[in-house]
Amino acid sequence: QPVRLAEYTPPAYVVDTVDLHFELGEEWTSVHARLAVRANPDRAEPGALFLNGREMELLEVAVDGRPWPETDYELNEESLTLHGVPEHFTLEITTSIRPQENTALEGLYKSSGTFCTQCEPEGFRRITYFPDRSDVMARYTTTIVADAERYPVLLSNGNRIGAGTLPGGRHWVQWEDPHPKPSYLFALVAGDLARVSDAFTTLSGREVALHIYVEHGNEDKVDHAMRSLKAAMAWDETAYGRECDLDVYQVVAVEDFNMGAMENKGLNIFNTSAILAKPETATDADFQRIEAIIGHEYFHNWSGNRVTLRDWFQLSLKEGFTVFREQQFAGDRYSAPVQRIEDVRRLRTAQFPEDDGPTAHPVRPDSYIEISNFYTPTVYEKGAEVIRMMYNLLGAEDFRRGTDLYFQRHDGQAVTTEEFARALEDASERDLSQFRLWYTQAGTPRIHVDGDYDPEAGTYTLHMRQEIPETPGQRQKEPMHIPIAVGLLDGDGNGLAPRLTGEGERAETTRMLELREAEQSFTFSGIPEEPVPSLLRSFSAPVRLEFGYRDEDLAFLLANDEDLFNRWEAGQELARRALFRAMTAYRSGAEIELEGTLVDAFGALLRGGTGDKALVAEALTQPDESYLADLMDWPVDPEAIHHARRSIRVRLAQALRDDFLYNYRAHQADGEYSADPEAIARRRLKNLSLAYLVAGGDEAGIEAAREQFRQATNMTDRLGALRPMVAEDVAGTGGALESFYEQWKDEAEVVDKWFAIQASSPVYGTLDRIKALLDHPAFNHKNPNKVRAVLGAFARGNPYRFHAADGTAYAFFADQVLHMDGINPQMAAALARGFSRFRRYDEERQRLMREQLERIRREPQLSRDTFEIVTKSLGDG
Ligand code: ARG
Ligand code: ZN
Repeated sequence: QPVRLAEYTPPAYVVDTVDLHFELGEEWTSVHARLAVRANPDRAEPGALFLNGREMELLEVAVDGRPWPETDYELNEESLTLHGVPEHFTLEITTSIRPQENTALEGLYKSSGTFCTQCEPEGFRRITYFPDRSDVMARYTTTIVADAERYPVLLSNGNRIGAGTLPGGRHWVQWEDPHPKPSYLFALVAGDLARVSDAFTTLSGREVALHIYVEHGNEDKVDHAMRSLKAAMAWDETAYGRECDLDVYQVVAVEDFNMGAMENKGLNIFNTSAILAKPETATDADFQRIEAIIGHEYFHNWSGNRVTLRDWFQLSLKEGFTVFREQQFAGDRYSAPVQRIEDVRRLRTAQFPEDDGPTAHPVRPDSYIEISNFYTPTVYEKGAEVIRMMYNLLGAEDFRRGTDLYFQRHDGQAVTTEEFARALEDASERDLSQFRLWYTQAGTPRIHVDGDYDPEAGTYTLHMRQEIPETPGQRQKEPMHIPIAVGLLDGDGNGLAPRLTGEGERAETTRMLELREAEQSFTFSGIPEEPVPSLLRSFSAPVRLEFGYRDEDLAFLLANDEDLFNRWEAGQELARRALFRAMTAYRSGAEIELEGTLVDAFGALLRGGTGDKALVAEALTQPDESYLADLMDWPVDPEAIHHARRSIRVRLAQALRDDFLYNYRAHQADGEYSADPEAIARRRLKNLSLAYLVAGGDEAGIEAAREQFRQATNMTDRLGALRPMVAEDVAGTGGALESFYEQWKDEAEVVDKWFAIQASSPVYGTLDRIKALLDHPAFNHKNPNKVRAVLGAFARGNPYRFHAADGTAYAFFADQVLHMDGINPQMAAALARGFSRFRRYDEERQRLMREQLERIRREPQLSRDTFEIVTKSLGDG
């Protein structure tokens, strides 16, 4: 049943042009497709023509204008195969579909009255029978016919080449896309939408019209997206030399969408949550996320669309590279170290556990049951880390030479990760053969480092050992090629300029070491005193690195390291140690103490040693409960994690009460809301301080939160107050939640936040409250944003309640997975991942979770999506 990379064969037939004609209706939508098909000259015996297709009614098939006899084709649930076709012919297919009943949100569907599409990865086959694979690229012309009043706006890829009215109140518009593309980049939108327009002039003087389409009434929430789009277009010109190749760039926001957004050629479709923002309704984090996603989809126009994928195993070729580009863009727009901290936090909370569990897979997987299950943190986030490591190994200049060569060499082609690596090699004369293991070996490498100072010789040696854990289907692992950025600090906290034995004088204080062996040592000369090493600076590789720092060393690095990322890292490690000591105390029934080192180090930060407010806020942000679970040895104890984390927070809040109060007051906003990095950093530190004050039970702090909640003029501050109130369930929280809902009930994105805050609070979000949220009139299982806001937030953000020892939440959640599976298999499979790490828990919880997984698996109509996750989790499929 699984699809395997090793079984890839080129298509037997290629398609040069696709002419689509849609008749959109309330009951039925008919699709007429006319394809120019020809045998693939690269294949000797083309044989039968195989077309994918599902969930449609086939009305007619004709070859060169004549109906194709039924005896010469085979039709089943998933495909249509034509036997004995000529070498070269026109194929016409008419199908009938019911978009208004499509709740899977793949193919053509309706979202709040608007027709829209999601074709990646395999949605096009729900629109017409077609060789629905990314290495079949064609030129598309699309004609859309629909009721003029209900659907005044009719859009598809490319340029609008014609329009007209028809009898019966209908009208039509025709679009032509000059760029050949795979079917997964096809898009269509029809609805009654408002349009906000602007324009961008490219470096070479091409005028690109920019249109963002939203529901009427949301026109005042697209400024930020438009500004971000123009910034992304300019950034790609300078950072990668990539110009926009379009005359019109259109973006449409829809409410019901499985993911964040989609890069369809010239017609991006976005989840409203990834577009709509104004200060009253969106937080700083939303503004930043929108800018990143707008950039991401725009960057795909080169990394994904101009150069596309040979097959879905290559997904990371476009996603890893595009996430990396997005991260660079965001780092340039705000703060590079803060961006890095956020990227690494996401990698550690989402990807490391995946890499360590039953659904672990390589960045380039070698088999799948359902490709939709592979839009994972490994393909996206670890994939971006793989690109970043190549950047680290080559340096900025050679990396750019490599990407230029890649784009030039493969423009218009459908390629593999191999072509990317080869272009970088050819441009840099570096050998990446061992490095390619990052694409094929799953599992997060562990690196153990020891330091050895020799005062006689004035040398300092780092001994490194790498180990790659076993993952499903992969027992033996080869040593990887890993860039490890290292600095050495002297006793005053100054960076030395380390040179490896045998090298001449060096100026740079960060050295990129290249670990290639299972065990390898690096010796630095001319080291006057025992240094404190700063390892894996800026997180130069996605590994778990261990070094026997003393707490004082960590406090020293936190205060002095020139690498801002590693300052944060040192603070996190100090906090992690305190948390694990607290867990031990909790489990033995002892009083939880907080040592002076952490309090002193964090106090010094708050008192302004660094000047970098964003960094201070990041440093004082506690690792979340699910990340701590990932770090814990078996069995994970969700109660110990929760109580230890909470009491450390309370104790820090009390010990540093005056500092938090000072920071809260000192960073009040003056004047208008602004989303510049400095203003965002101030709000971040202010609201972090407020959260600690509330956690510490400080009366002044709680009063300040209530006050800020009432007076706030932007959503960042309003939630900055409400979130800690809900997290601690302080008196007045219920009323605050009610008034919040009353005020914002017409703003879907805000209602999602309201749901998520409750569902992810371990104190407030009890199972009964979660159930009540599902019964709330604003909740809707058909809307993925609502499902994520309640069920996603509960499973991922509230492990204390999710893993309640009696298993009641497990049974409830499995019911939800089953219910969702009948509506939207992709969302159901995503939820089912909530059980995937059940073996990390104690025997009783394991038993309870296994019972639910088995119950889900017994469902006779189970989707392929959920089946794959459940069987892999159970580890016997
Ligand atoms: N290519 C899109 C992006 O990352 C996401 C594709 C959505 N895929 C899906 N299975 N829903 O930008
Ligand atoms: Zn993407």
